[in-house]
Amino acid sequence: MACWRPAAAAAVLTLVCGAVMVGFSSAGDPFAFFDWNVAYMKASPLGVEQQVISVNGKFPGPVVNVTTNWNVVVNVLNSLDEPLLITWDGVEQRKNSWQDGVLGTNCPIPVGWNWTYQFQVKDQIGSFFYFPSINLQRAAGGFGEFTVNNRPIISVPFDTPHGDISIFIGDWFNKNHTDLRKELDQGKALGVPDGVLMNGKGPYRYNSTLVPAGIDFETINVLPGRTYRFRVHNVGIFTCLNFRIQSHNLLLAETEGSYTVQQNYTNLDIFVGQSYSFLITMDQNASSDYYIVASARFVNGSKWDKVVGVAILHYSNSKGKASGPLPDPPNDVYDKTYSMNQARSIRWNVSASGARPNPQGSFRYGSINVTQVYVLKNKPPVLIDGKRRATLNGISYSPPETPLRLADQYNKKGVYTLDFPTRPGTGPPKIATSVINGTYRGFIEIVFQNNDTRVQSYHLDGYAFFVVGMDFGEWTDNSRGTYNKWDGVARSTIQVYAGAWTAVLVSLDNVGIWNLRSEDLDSWYLGQETYISVVNPESTNRTEMPVPDNALYCGLLKDKQQDQSPHAQGLNSSSVLKSMSGILLGAMMLITTLPAFL
Ligand SMILES: *[C@@H]1O[C@H](CO)[C@@H](O)[C@H](O)[C@H]1NC(C)=O
Ligand SMILES: *[C@@H]1O[C@H](CO)[C@@H](O)[C@H](O)[C@H]1NC(C)=O
Ligand SMILES: *[C@@H]1O[C@H](CO)[C@@H](O)[C@H](O)[C@H]1NC(C)=O
Ligand SMILES: *[C@@H]1O[C@H](CO)[C@@H](O)[C@H](O)[C@H]1NC(C)=O
Ligand SMILES: *[C@@H]1O[C@H](CO)[C@@H](O)[C@H](O)[C@H]1NC(C)=O
Ligand SMILES: *[C@@H]1O[C@H](CO)[C@@H](O)[C@H](O)[C@H]1NC(C)=O
Ligand SMILES: *[C@@H]1O[C@H](CO)[C@@H](O)[C@H](O)[C@H]1NC(C)=O
Ligand SMILES: *[C@@H]1O[C@H](CO)[C@@H](O)[C@H](O)[C@H]1NC(C)=O
Ligand SMILES: *[C@@H]1O[C@H](CO)[C@@H](O)[C@H](O)[C@H]1NC(C)=O
Ligand SMILES: *[C@@H]1O[C@H](CO)[C@@H](O)[C@H](O)[C@H]1NC(C)=O
Ligand SMILES: *[C@@H]1O[C@H](CO)[C@@H](O)[C@H](O)[C@H]1NC(C)=O
Ligand SMILES: *[C@@H]1O[C@H](CO)[C@@H](O)[C@H](O)[C@H]1NC(C)=O
Repeated sequence: MACWRPAAAAAVLTLVCGAVMVGFSSAGDPFAFFDWNVAYMKASPLGVEQQVISVNGKFPGPVVNVTTNWNVVVNVLNSLDEPLLITWDGVEQRKNSWQDGVLGTNCPIPVGWNWTYQFQVKDQIGSFFYFPSINLQRAAGGFGEFTVNNRPIISVPFDTPHGDISIFIGDWFNKNHTDLRKELDQGKALGVPDGVLMNGKGPYRYNSTLVPAGIDFETINVLPGRTYRFRVHNVGIFTCLNFRIQSHNLLLAETEGSYTVQQNYTNLDIFVGQSYSFLITMDQNASSDYYIVASARFVNGSKWDKVVGVAILHYSNSKGKASGPLPDPPNDVYDKTYSMNQARSIRWNVSASGARPNPQGSFRYGSINVTQVYVLKNKPPVLIDGKRRATLNGISYSPPETPLRLADQYNKKGVYTLDFPTRPGTGPPKIATSVINGTYRGFIEIVFQNNDTRVQSYHLDGYAFFVVGMDFGEWTDNSRGTYNKWDGVARSTIQVYAGAWTAVLVSLDNVGIWNLRSEDLDSWYLGQETYISVVNPESTNRTEMPVPDNALYCGLLKDKQQDQSPHAQGLNSSSVLKSMSGILLGAMMLITTLPAFL
């Protein structure tokens, strides 16, 4: 959630962000330190050996488990054979796009180098994940849980669960990310995935034809009668997955930093990049184990039969193995109405507290006047200069060598243009570095119009947006009449069905340059992204952090970069890490209260 500081509509709104403008004081807020070694690791999740990306030898990586307002310090060593950036999906880098870990704000960490991220999770709660943001690396792993807990003094709208369980679901190819990249570079589509992984593992052998013997699957161990919080993330490439647990209700409680109205679902469609928390009570008789399923959605044809992830829910008093057919998915491949209605049913609990004691709904987004409108249209990939590219409003983004934010800082002109079209337009598609000129403290309406035949999901860094509407067909001004102006949920990743639109509203109160992108890795890789530049016209150092001392420099600024000699040559990464840090290894975390360093 953004630190609600509504300027446009201050008169109608309660000011809910008490300590807002007190600079960057993080004095007294605890620090959590992490030392990560990001490296290849051999694994055979679907029975074919390949290189996956591990963090400290783990795939998925270690958990970042912090509390509102904590400072997070992550020293990332790049032991891959290509550049690396880690981004923190949905964690708002408040006033601090310097730490966002995307090419518009950061130079990639060179091979063999380390770089330390440092940011505060100011005024946030919720379930998120981190992942490597460039070069399709997420298709090989590198992701992990990022949880922001409520401070103890803030009430949470449900009883404390018995335990916290993270489940990463995602489509998966037996080809590694470098081969997948090659296919996209050659103008091919990626085709049908080879399967779905759950927590980095292949499916339980529920069907001996579809699943070969010897696949390692995930088992979730639980106690009967207890309620657990399941944090489920779709970290996949492009496939929407239907998530369900045999015989168990999913009580939806939170999504991407907002507490939702609590409702039971027997299954939920989770789109690429989305995160949900479910409260699940172990209320069955354990006559056997139960299937946990994530199956490909909106696809037809037997090639997709294998694109199903299956894990096992094992009660401590279970009387036997799971067997028989999987619980049924919704039977509506050709009709997405059910899914859209399900999406519309996900609403904000306006009376629950978020990161602060005030009710989430005290920010009345529905009464704020919109100051900017962007209709962003996605079309099926097109050829531009002989290359297959993906576009928004006819523009396929090309990341410049110099990060946009650094170019601004050092007055390098011509790196990008602030002329992203507000409407789809009719000209021929082109490759450009065109960015949205956001108005600081404005209120922007973004309508995503999906003219492709595949569902897409879109994500905005630095912010949560209010999801106010979605429908089939073309959006028009009249569509605003259907908007939910009361309890649309605030989140950072939203689906846009094929042939349909989704509208979101965003309060532009976070200064920086923020990535707006397709969360589908192939569309993103092919250029379906842009940035929103949010500049405070007033000259002050209070609304944005200064450039970090350890900033990496590249492109037009590469002369400012000093060599990082100790790690530059061929390394045995873990021993390097050990000698570098001396103290912290593994998923270890140290919490201290250091004086503010700012
Ligand atoms: C929004 O715009 C309307 C019409 O232009 C105006 O009457 C109203 O005062 C504005 N509201 C706010 C909160 O600025
Ligand atoms: C990916 O697989 C290809 C062979 O198909 C291999 O040449 C390449 O080195 C692999 N890349 C990684 C990062 O393992
Ligand atoms: C995360 O931290 C919270 C609060 O400190 C704790 O209750 C919880 O058990 C931790 N969860 C995990 C998965 O470490
Ligand atoms: C690299 O790691 C070392 C040792 O942990 C640390 O002192 C240094 O600040 C790190 N470099 C950067 C650029 O983060
Ligand atoms: C909304 O949050 C309030 C306050 O925590 C809680 O009492 C209520 O049960 C929640 N309502 C629903 C429908 O989830
Ligand atoms: C296993 O899957 C195959 C292929 O989809 C199907 O024909 C067969 O009926 C399934 N077997 C069982 C026992 O469900
Ligand atoms: C959800 O389902 C459980 C049973 O699994 C039931 O106990 C609970 O009352 C339901 N909650 C809501 C809000 O419907
Ligand atoms: C357990 O529940 C299942 C499904 O509801 C039922 O078919 C079965 O008879 C129950 N078994 C026992 C031992 O109660
Ligand atoms: C899948 O459905 C589409 C229509 O939505 C149809 O054009 C296509 O032929 C179908 N493919 C298969 C394999 O059934
Ligand atoms: C961007 O918008 C601001 C107002 O928010 C305006 O002053 C500025 O001229 C615009 N920049 C460009 C390049 O259009
Ligand atoms: C794409 O746009 C065209 C022109 O507006 C329209 O005729 C067509 O139905 C749209 N297709 C989809 C899938 O939205
Ligand atoms: C902001 O600027 C003021 C005045 O120039 C200076 O005193 C202060 O230290 C600066 N604060 C930060 C966080 O850089």
